[in-house]
Amino acid sequence: MNTAFIAIILFEIILIVFAIYLLWSWLTKTPFYPSQLKKLDKLFNEKEIPIDSSTNFIDIGSGDGRIMIWAAKKGAMAHGIEYNPFLSLFTRVKTAFKGLSKKVRVFNKDFKNHNYSDYDIVYMYLFPEHMNILKEKLFRELKPGSTIITNTFTLEEVEPYKIVDKFYFYKIVK
Ligand SMILES: C[S@@+](CC[C@H](N)C(=O)[O-])C[C@H]1O[C@@H](n2cnc3c(N)ncnc32)[C@H](O)[C@@H]1O
Repeated sequence: MNTAFIAIILFEIILIVFAIYLLWSWLTKTPFYPSQLKKLDKLFNEKEIPIDSSTNFIDIGSGDGRIMIWAAKKGAMAHGIEYNPFLSLFTRVKTAFKGLSKKVRVFNKDFKNHNYSDYDIVYMYLFPEHMNILKEKLFRELKPGSTIITNTFTLEEVEPYKIVDKFYFYKIVK
């Protein structure tokens, strides 16, 4: 077998795996669709949601890690949960190249299997049915004063205390 043939086979395998992932992610309503960072910058520039070195931040369904990296650059300790191993690996490599490995940590697992009690700000850009699976767990585990921010979709039966653009803010009150 020559090298060109092996390269073509490998390339085809990668394409097939990627196509299966795309199909599966749309069927299970868990596609990777990134947030726009410019909008988040505008949001946090309002100073109403401070994010600094004392902030424990988490992006649930962290995709390619852009939100964690964005939060870490503002000083936060940033965690993410992502069950797609390729995106988790990509996040780790990107984080290492940016010298942010100490500030950013991605957990490669299902978001249902995590404890959220340490976080001050929780960010989610997920379909409503997935966020609502987590809603009770978050309201039970998060400490009073913590903020949940959802992008585009809202939490069922909970009123956001603030809406900016397509971001919805919820406060934990106990
Ligand atoms: C719309 S993307 C958002 C990515 C990122 N948070 C952003 O705003 O740029 C949703 C991500 O959630 C991940 N995801 C969906 N369900 C998940 C689950 N049960 N556990 C962990 N990650 C999940 C998907 O793989 C996808 O990368």
